[in-house]
Amino acid sequence: MSRTAALIIAKQVRSKPASVLGLATGSTPLGTYKELVRMHAKEGLDFSEVRTFNLDEYFRLNPSHPQSYHTFMFENLFNRMNLKPGNIAIPDGMAENVEGFCMDYELRIRLAGGLDLQLLGIGRDGHIGFNEPGSSLGSRTRLKTLAEETVRDNARFFGGKKEVPRLAITMGVGTIMEARKLVMLASGVGKADAVKRSIEGPITAQVTASALQLHPSVTVVVDEEAASTLRHRRYYAYVEKMAEEYEAEVGI
Ligand code: F6R
Repeated sequence: MSRTAALIIAKQVRSKPASVLGLATGSTPLGTYKELVRMHAKEGLDFSEVRTFNLDEYFRLNPSHPQSYHTFMFENLFNRMNLKPGNIAIPDGMAENVEGFCMDYELRIRLAGGLDLQLLGIGRDGHIGFNEPGSSLGSRTRLKTLAEETVRDNARFFGGKKEVPRLAITMGVGTIMEARKLVMLASGVGKADAVKRSIEGPITAQVTASALQLHPSVTVVVDEEAASTLRHRRYYAYVEKMAEEYEAEVGI
């Protein structure tokens, strides 16, 4: 899963060195970031012109906190790649004027030319970013209250539920949907139900990842476990095989 996702990102950056990437945190993209770092070190993958915008950050958690998404991104990717510090953007959970910050974040994405590729994980409740059930499918970057299930899931990183921030600044579903390409990752049996509901269920604000069904260019990269309950999984595997054959034939 990680290798496939890293190859998609590398292809994007190689075809457009000044790509604008939307990035995710959490346990799911860790392997992908590791693979990108390896490709940078061993294969010369160059991020010097890349611009990045992260999906989300906990509210009122200092960027230097070990569990902040700032820390996560610098430890797992930015410190190991050749990005220019000025080309990195992560929501500021410490912003005084939150609404102003969120509007400005949207504007900065637009001024950068929009997101070429947005990487996503998925929560067990079907969230993308921190767009919890009930988030408008047209939502923009804003302050969001985390769902109980998300607080519980993230307690493992904080050494207890009590320590987990209850609010986060997140890109909205509408913001994410404007990216030119979406790549959503999921691994493990714990994500199988969310994956099934987002891909094969109805489009609903109760499962914000289901909005992806309306996007013209989405790739969902899953391992066997996360795909295990998909009704049409054999067909999806067949489609992938056909696409590979077609690519080999026409040389794209
Ligand atoms: C992280 C994010 C979240 C996570 C999701 C899954 O930036 O926006 O949507 O992708 O909560 O988290 P993990 O990968 O830890 O299971």
